[in-house]
Amino acid sequence: MNLIDQIRLRAQGTAKRIVMPEATEERSLRAADIILQEDLARLILLGNREEISANASHWNLQHIHKAQILDPKDHDRKEFFAQMLFKLRQSKGLRIEQARIMVEDPLYLAVLLIKNGDAEGEVAGANNATGDVLRPAFQIIKTQPGITAVSGAFIMIMPEKTYGDNGLLIFADCAVNPDPSAQELAEIAIATAQTAKNIAGIDPKIAMLSFSTKGSANHPRNDKVIAATQLAKALDPQLKIDGELQADAALVEAIGQKKSPGSPIAGRANVLVFPSLEAGNIAYKLVQRLANAEAIGPVLQGLAAPINDLSRGCSVEDIVNLVAITANQANGI
Ligand code: ACO
Repeated sequence: MNLIDQIRLRAQGTAKRIVMPEATEERSLRAADIILQEDLARLILLGNREEISANASHWNLQHIHKAQILDPKDHDRKEFFAQMLFKLRQSKGLRIEQARIMVEDPLYLAVLLIKNGDAEGEVAGANNATGDVLRPAFQIIKTQPGITAVSGAFIMIMPEKTYGDNGLLIFADCAVNPDPSAQELAEIAIATAQTAKNIAGIDPKIAMLSFSTKGSANHPRNDKVIAATQLAKALDPQLKIDGELQADAALVEAIGQKKSPGSPIAGRANVLVFPSLEAGNIAYKLVQRLANAEAIGPVLQGLAAPINDLSRGCSVEDIVNLVAITANQANGI
């Protein structure tokens, strides 16, 4: 059974409540229908009730009636959530009048539902930019204890099985932190190891990537990666990690052993941690397009509740898969 099928099977019947704030959008509603049909999650769909119902019947979707539908502009708990948002953000200067407007935004209502215990997770981003999905999550849900930087990992499934774990690799951070500090990079490495274990089911071997291998070039950008590697080892001495490594030294056995002899990771890495968001985001999109890899994610790591962001170019299947991953994260598996 392939990884996606395993992920979907694990989510089945777990009945986690996942909010989908873009329910009037075609791919999201079609995905919701499949999720409900396969029983991958219970769904709370946010949007205009009449529009959702009309779209569901227009596209002949048979299962949408099983979802709870909530119209952010018209429901009886608007004032309750406005007060809740105001209390959570008044120290940041938010006024109650602003909170009353913000709770009509489905992306804010989604995180407030999670905060209030009405839902366990959220998937959004088919119609909204990453920053607009992440900001409410950062402000209201916050990070897990011990984590300061939320990051985004991609599970990359290569048609060519030569590299990583039989063609399976995890890339991070591809979605959130434009210029992570050494401390943040160390946290990203640790969080990505967890994603590799819990979501992809592999034993993580982490390469901290740069344009240099073990001092072959001298630059402050390499120093940051070296410092991050040391910090990660100090934070988790069990971690299988090495850096700084170039991508070929990380992946290709012969090159790895030549450039970094004796490294337990060089040539065997299955988790690639990139030094910046430019590198991580460009790398995953190039590998996806040029190598025809399947890119699952970004799986957000380090938030206090599972919230995942879609690419606006996502397919219906991408949405279904990310909801299944979110349900599994909510279930702690
Ligand atoms: N982890 C946890 N919390 C964070 C993080 C982070 N990485 N970054 C910001 N925050 C928190 C801040 O502490 C702050 O909280 P507070 O208001 O309670 O004090 C809140 O989020 C807002 O912080 P700002 O500094 O104002 O952050 P801003 O809203 O400007 O930006 C954002 C945050 C949106 C995530 C920004 O870093 C960003 O745009 N990143 C790039 C996202 C992106 O475009 N990715 C590429 C596309 S994704 C793809 O292709 C799949």
